[in-house]
Amino acid sequence: MPSTNFKNHVLVTLILAFLFCPLVLRAQGPKTIKLNEPNKERGLPVMAALAVRASATEWSTRDLSSQDLSDLLWAANGINRPDSGKKTAPSAMNAQDVDIYVFIKDGVYLYEAKSHSLVEVVAGDQRSLFFQPRRPRPATAGQPGQQPPTPPAGAPRPQEQVTMAPVVLLLVSDISRFRAGNDDQKKEWAALDTGIVSQNISLFCAGIGLNTRPRSGMDRDKIRELLKLKETQLPLLNHPVSYKKQ
Ligand SMILES: Cc1cc2nc3c(=O)[nH]c(=O)nc-3n(C[C@H](O)[C@H](O)[C@H](O)COP(=O)(O)O)c2cc1C
Repeated sequence: MPSTNFKNHVLVTLILAFLFCPLVLRAQGPKTIKLNEPNKERGLPVMAALAVRASATEWSTRDLSSQDLSDLLWAANGINRPDSGKKTAPSAMNAQDVDIYVFIKDGVYLYEAKSHSLVEVVAGDQRSLFFQPRRPRPATAGQPGQQPPTPPAGAPRPQEQVTMAPVVLLLVSDISRFRAGNDDQKKEWAALDTGIVSQNISLFCAGIGLNTRPRSGMDRDKIRELLKLKETQLPLLNHPVSYKKQ
């Protein structure tokens, strides 16, 4: 027969385990990075930003500063009216269907606009999923049979270079957030909403002198698998972002 002392000891251990269990579980939750307060005073006036907006073809490998990353995400699709929870990008029926996954060297993070923070989804560098081998040019594009100039041996080709950018933003629309409409309509709204977030990114980058390019090219199947996306979540566009190449 166990002694009363032993029974008490077991009881105390169980009570302590019960009390501290939530703390332990919380400590093991996903890694979260609180972003800096966005700086809403910076950048070129909107007409000057429009005047220099262009899709980049070259990428610096230098990491973005934490302020630049914070401002980029807020401009892309952050909350600009906390009272209503509405965002810098409009969305059909205010469905707020576009999520931004942030691919950086140490992992993939989901941008949480409400808390202006990043929540880790997958660890490790996954940026190579945005490399898409160049498709053969259709006969109608450019001179028939003309190939783009071959880069010097060992140099990354333009499409490969996007994986050198320190940040790639992936725009994913979740069409289950549209409360009305048939599938075709939902896909159309998804594309429109994603295009608007994309333009926010392009204009922000033009305004503060960062390089970016909207791209539909990416390995969608592997991205779906990696991020465990639902059927209703559509990865539609990606944006490599970097400083200007010196
Ligand atoms: C919906 C969309 C998809 C695009 N997909 C790609 C792509 O997969 N790869 C790429 O290099 N550029 C892509 N682009 C960039 C276009 O090639 C670029 O915007 C176009 O050449 C015009 O150049 P500009 O943006 O400098 O005006 C895409 C642009 C848009 C709007």
